[in-house]
Amino acid sequence: MSKTAIVTGGSRGIGLAIAKKLGSMGFQVVIFATKPFSACKEMAEILDGEGISWHYVQGCLDQSDDRVRLIEETVRIFGRIDVLVNNAGVAPLSRFDLLDMTEESFDRVVGINTKGTLFLSQLAANQMLIQTLEGRKRGTIINIGSCSAEVSSVNRGEYCISKAGLSMVTSLFADRLAADGILVHEVRPGVIHTDMTEGVQEKYDRLIQNGSFPIPRWGTPEDVAEAVAAFSLDQFLYATGNYIDIDGGFHIRRL
Ligand SMILES: NC(=O)c1ccc[n+]([C@@H]2O[C@H](COP(=O)([O-])OP(=O)(O)OC[C@H]3O[C@@H](n4cnc5c(N)ncnc54)[C@H](OP(=O)(O)O)[C@@H]3O)[C@@H](O)[C@H]2O)c1
Repeated sequence: MSKTAIVTGGSRGIGLAIAKKLGSMGFQVVIFATKPFSACKEMAEILDGEGISWHYVQGCLDQSDDRVRLIEETVRIFGRIDVLVNNAGVAPLSRFDLLDMTEESFDRVVGINTKGTLFLSQLAANQMLIQTLEGRKRGTIINIGSCSAEVSSVNRGEYCISKAGLSMVTSLFADRLAADGILVHEVRPGVIHTDMTEGVQEKYDRLIQNGSFPIPRWGTPEDVAEAVAAFSLDQFLYATGNYIDIDGGFHIRRL
C-alpha cells in the first residue's frame, strides 16, 4: 500500500519542495494552502511533471473547520495518513519593533504557526492511532520550525514566539505519542530563498557575505526537503522530539 503525506503550505516555497520530494519517493501527497486551486497552476505542473499522485485542499490553518476537512478529505481519498508535515507558516505582515507589536499581528502569527499547527497535529494523531500499522512505525509528524525559535529578532517578536511555542508542540506530541509508535521531529531552517524572505534579501545577502553563516550561501527549499524526507522514511526509529538545524551552521556559537 502506498503511504500518504499531508504537507501544509505545499503550494510554494519549502512546502512545495517537500511535496515534490516525498511524492518522488512514492508518497501520495495532500497539499493544504490558502489560495484557490485555480491559482496553483505552477504547483500542479511541477507535481504532474514528476508523476506524483496528489490532491489539493484549500483552507486556512487557523480555521477549525478547514483543518477537519483536510483530515477527512485525505482519509476519504487516500485512506490513511502516514506523515504530517506541518510546514505552513507566516511572518508578520509588517516588521515592527517589539515595543510597537500589535495584538492583531501576534494573534495572526501565533494563531497560524502555533495554534493551527497544534490542533491539526491533534486531528492527524487521532487518525494515525486508529489506523493499521504499516511498516515499522504508526506515523510521523514533522514540524517546520525555525532558527527563530532560539534567535531573537526584536522586529518580529511574534514570529520568534510562535516558533519557540512550536518547539514545545514538538516536545509534547513526541512525548505523548512515542509509546504509540508515532514519532515527532522538528526541522529548523535558517535563511531559505523563498517568497517569505523576498523582502529581506539584501539584509541576508549582506549577512552571508559578512560570514554570519559558516556555509556561505542561502539555503534552498530542497535543503529542507532532504531532511524531511529522511525523517519520513522508516528510519531513526529510536529518535523522537528532536530537531535538526538546516541553517548552514548558523546555530554554532563562535568566538
Ligand atoms: N524561508 C525561510 O527562510 C524560513 C526560515 C525558517 C523557517 N521557515 C518556515 O518554513 C515554512 C515555509 O516557509 P516558506 O519560506 O516556504 O514560506 P512561503 O514561501 O511564504 O510559503 C508559505 C506557505 O504556507 C501557506 N500558508 C500560509 N498561511 C497559511 C494558512 N493560514 N493556512 C494554510 N496555509 C498557509 C502558503 O499558502 P498560499 O500559497 O496559499 O499563500 C504557502 O504555501 C514556514 O513555517 C516558515 O516559518 C522559513
